[in-house]
Amino acid sequence: MSKTKESVNFAPQKEYIYIKINKMDKLFIFDTTLRDGEQVPGCQLNTVEKIQVAKQLEALGVDVIEAGFPISSPGDFNSVIEISKAVTWPTICALTRAVEKDIDCAAEALQYAKHKRIHTGIGTSESHIRYKFNSTPEEIIERAVAAVKYAKRYVEDVEFYAEDAGRTDNEYLARVIEAVTKAGATVCNIPDTTGFRTPYEYGEKIKYLYEHVDAFAAGKSILSTHCHNDLGMATANTVAGILNGARQAEVTINGIGERAGNTSLEEIAMIFKTHPDLGIDTNINTTKIYPTSRMVSSLMNMPVQPNKAIVGRNAFAHSSGIHQDGVLKNASTYEIMNPKDVGIDDNAIVLTARSGRAALKHRLSVNGVDIDGERLDKVYEEFLKLADKKKEITDDDILVLAGADRSASHNVKLDYLQVTTGKGVRSVASIGLLIANEKFESAASGNGPVDAAIKALKTIIKRQMTLREFTIQAISKGSDDMGKVHMQVEYDGKVYYGFGANTDIVTASVEAYIDCINKFK
Ligand code: KIV
Ligand code: ZN
Repeated sequence: MSKTKESVNFAPQKEYIYIKINKMDKLFIFDTTLRDGEQVPGCQLNTVEKIQVAKQLEALGVDVIEAGFPISSPGDFNSVIEISKAVTWPTICALTRAVEKDIDCAAEALQYAKHKRIHTGIGTSESHIRYKFNSTPEEIIERAVAAVKYAKRYVEDVEFYAEDAGRTDNEYLARVIEAVTKAGATVCNIPDTTGFRTPYEYGEKIKYLYEHVDAFAAGKSILSTHCHNDLGMATANTVAGILNGARQAEVTINGIGERAGNTSLEEIAMIFKTHPDLGIDTNINTTKIYPTSRMVSSLMNMPVQPNKAIVGRNAFAHSSGIHQDGVLKNASTYEIMNPKDVGIDDNAIVLTARSGRAALKHRLSVNGVDIDGERLDKVYEEFLKLADKKKEITDDDILVLAGADRSASHNVKLDYLQVTTGKGVRSVASIGLLIANEKFESAASGNGPVDAAIKALKTIIKRQMTLREFTIQAISKGSDDMGKVHMQVEYDGKVYYGFGANTDIVTASVEAYIDCINKFK
């Protein structure tokens, strides 16, 4: 749907002056799940998984995929190359610092992209200039301009970010942005890196830049929002930025990102879909939102909070009698969106021990996982084992099962585990591990079953390992449910993240510990 600004009736909040930008009523969606999102400890994906996510983002309709920070590691470099080959429509973007060797590396990684963008930038706040760069405001402008000009030697589409723009003085920020747009920046990203600004302040900042930098009204560059959620205001700040003239939103699936996360894609897409009076269109195929959310959550082992807007388990669940009664009479009484519009299939088939391969395949595909052949057979085998222990198998269960074969290539595997435990007795565990296919066995006692099992494991793997974090999460309800365990283990000065899922919580804990060990470098 294409509209001109003039044809749209903007009647919303008085304090947000809508800025008319010719032909710019489309909001570009820039997804940074694979860069800002993937930076989160424990969310790292391998290249094959990143390609899977990138293809799903393409199907979802995002305009730009930030595929990585190529200079940061050979893995990131390689992922940008492979994503560039695998994806056709979205622009592929690579992050750099305002440093020539970063830009050279990004340009090389982007060589196969059909549409490419280099995203370069530098910190502009007083504290970044003084403490991070030991520099001066004038020198930062020079470095910013030099980086944009250098990137322009490789690609036409150059995005500039002013890191910590949220805490940068508006007047100085406008000078930086004016200079980089003159150097050819096609997009100017205004990150609220620390998630500090309020929606009113962030909206005012975008408005100030729009009004003081000629390139925006002239249609030579667009402003982009990039908000973090430290104070829970990322989505509100992004909306305020857009209503004040920004035409690109930088977002992640499920709002994942460092610390409290980034603005979530699904919230921005659904805010503008449910408020057409705001006159902002995105290219997002909203029916792909839920499968994409499930896929990212499952591949990154990052649970979605049950009350998360749009994609949380409870987002469309009406539990109070009054609400249920109203929704049964007419869904519009308590529902502002149709769950089907975000891809939630409420006629979900309930999977049980009697379900066949086809039902399992269908359910996985609704959740964004398409598998066939031998891989499907393997997951189906595991599914039947689980269905023997559990009456109803949930979407979360099968996503765990589909991810479980990622451990097939692990060097250390749990062969068996037996634990005796109870009130008034010390727990005792015996464990068998396969290390490079050789069997090792041990036993130990502890003050609880997990303690005993991990002590037994440590008598086989004799390394200086410290358990830093241990979270047990039941996926849904019922004593037969599968428990998920997230762990962080410190080894050799680094913290490794591990995950395990099993109907037996002690086994899940040991599997999570072993998952960490398999990641040791
Ligand atoms: O939050 C931030 O400032 C960023 C930039 C590197 C774009 O992620
Ligand atoms: Zn960020």
